Parts: sequence; C-alpha cells; structure tokens
Amino acid sequence: MIELVNIKKSFGEKPVLRNVNLTVEEGESVVIIGRSGSGKSVAFRHILRLIKPDEGRVYVEGRDISTLSRKGLYKVLENIGVLFQNSALWDSMNVFENIALALRRHKMCGGENGIRKRVYDCLDMVGLGMTGISGTGGVEIIGTRMPSELSGGMRKRVGLARAIAPNPAYMLYDEPTTGLDPIMSGIINRLIKRLNKELNVTSLTITHDMHSASTIADRIVLLHKGEFKDLGTPDEANSNDDPIVRQFIHGEDGPIHPVLTDHFEKVHVHHS
Ligand SMILES: Nc1ncnc2c1ncn2[C@@H]1O[C@H](COP(=O)(O)OP(=O)(O)O)[C@@H](O)[C@H]1O
Ligand SMILES: [Mg+2]
Repeated sequence: MIELVNIKKSFGEKPVLRNVNLTVEEGESVVIIGRSGSGKSVAFRHILRLIKPDEGRVYVEGRDISTLSRKGLYKVLENIGVLFQNSALWDSMNVFENIALALRRHKMCGGENGIRKRVYDCLDMVGLGMTGISGTGGVEIIGTRMPSELSGGMRKRVGLARAIAPNPAYMLYDEPTTGLDPIMSGIINRLIKRLNKELNVTSLTITHDMHSASTIADRIVLLHKGEFKDLGTPDEANSNDDPIVRQFIHGEDGPIHPVLTDHFEKVHVHHS
C-alpha cells in the first residue's frame, strides 16, 4: 500500500501541492489525471523520496519513508518499478545494458543467460520485439542501440521494459503512452493492465490519455488546484456531472480557462 497524507509542497513562492491525500491499496490500479503543470509528477516523485514534502507523510507498506535509513529506503525502492516521464535512460549504455543493470545489481535471473532471456522477454512485452528488422532478431538488434538513436516512443518503451524487468510489486508510470501511436498505446495499456490483474502489481499511473485511463484504472483521481479529487471508477468518472470534471474527462468547454496554468494563485498555503 502507498499512502500520501496531507502533502504540501511549494517551490519558492509557488504552491504546487496544497493538500494531497492518496491511498493506493494492495493490487489496486489508480490513475492520476490533471492539467500539464498541475503537479502530478511532483506528487509522484514524493513516493520515491526524490522530493521531500514541506508538510505531510509518505508511507510505503506502512513505513514512513522519511524515517528510513539510506539502506532501508533502498530496500523499499527496490520493490518499486518506475517509468519516468522522460524515460530517464542511461545515455552511455545501450538498451540491453540499461535493462540488465538492475538485474545484475540485485543478482537476479541466476546469471548472464537468465538475464539475457529476461531482457529480451521484457523488450518483447513492450512491443519492441516486432520492430520488423529482417523479420526476426528484433529484440537483439534493439538491445544494441544507444538511447540517443531511439525515438521518444521507443525510449519510453525501453524505460518500461527496464522498470518491469526486476518484477517489482509496485509500478509507477508517468505518462506511459504519451507520444505513442494508438497501436503501441494499446500494447502498453494491456501490459499495464495485465501486470496489475495477473501479477497483482499495485499500479499508479499518470496520464492525459482518457482511453488509457479507462482501460487500466480501477479508480481515477483528478489533481486540481493542488488537491486530489477521487472520481471513482472509470464509469463513475465518465458520468460525473461536475463541469470541471467533465472538462477533463470529455474535453468539453468548461470553467477552466485553457491558457491559464493550474496554479491557484494567491492561495495562502503556509500557516507559519
Ligand atoms: N524541482 C522543481 N523546482 C521548481 N519547480 C518545480 C520543480 N519540479 C516541478 N516544478 C514545478 O511544479 C509544477 C508542477 O510540475 P509537474 O509536477 O512536473 O507537472 P505535471 O502535472 O505536468 O506533471 C510546475 O509548475 C513545475 O514547473
Ligand atoms: Mg508530469
């Protein structure tokens, strides 16, 4: 279980998270939607302690991660696979080495042959086995490529392959289908769903893609004005009649002004 409790975070004078509360239950798939710049990635990075809250607590499996030692934190993070918004691949390593790195570090897969198989299986799962390069051997060829040689969509899929390779109990996906064509998005959505439903991987996904959200979510939450609003199941979210929610879900005209950012100006955040 992952819990964010009363998280407040500002950057300089700019409040981003005003009071964020979120619980992701064991085995659940929760999707976060919200405008660009609303703080979705910031909320997400709190779970990994890449960002520390100004106030509030983050619990993973009941442990307050701010109290953990480096080693304790490392142990918790080992069990969380992350696909970052920008993929965050190691530029100096080829695709194979990017994915193999964590497997070697955790001494998984019983040695090099097992690692090789796992890397190729994961590349296959994210749709990189069918690159069509001379019909076969797609994954081996992709494995030798450097991240700089790949399109954004391919880097995203390599990032996903790397995240799932060590079989984490939790997966965090930051915009997993952004920049992918509908066919690839479909593959990624089904993979996220399958990991969640068949392997019971607890999932938290940020997306703008409502089709993707409807496919993978047990529950959708909207980040708006620095707070999460629980919209319930995809069906419930779809039939929500709050004009703000409808604007997000259906892209209708509504009260949110398109050119303004989500930042609730002049909100008094700090009480001290
Ligand atoms: N490390 C940082 N320092 C300063 N401002 C930041 C930092 N990270 C994010 N922000 C700001 O916080 C806001 C929310 O960003 P982000 O969480 O990336 O939005 P999104 O919802 O699109 O993922 C943005 O205005 C961004 O510029
Ligand atoms: Mg983001």
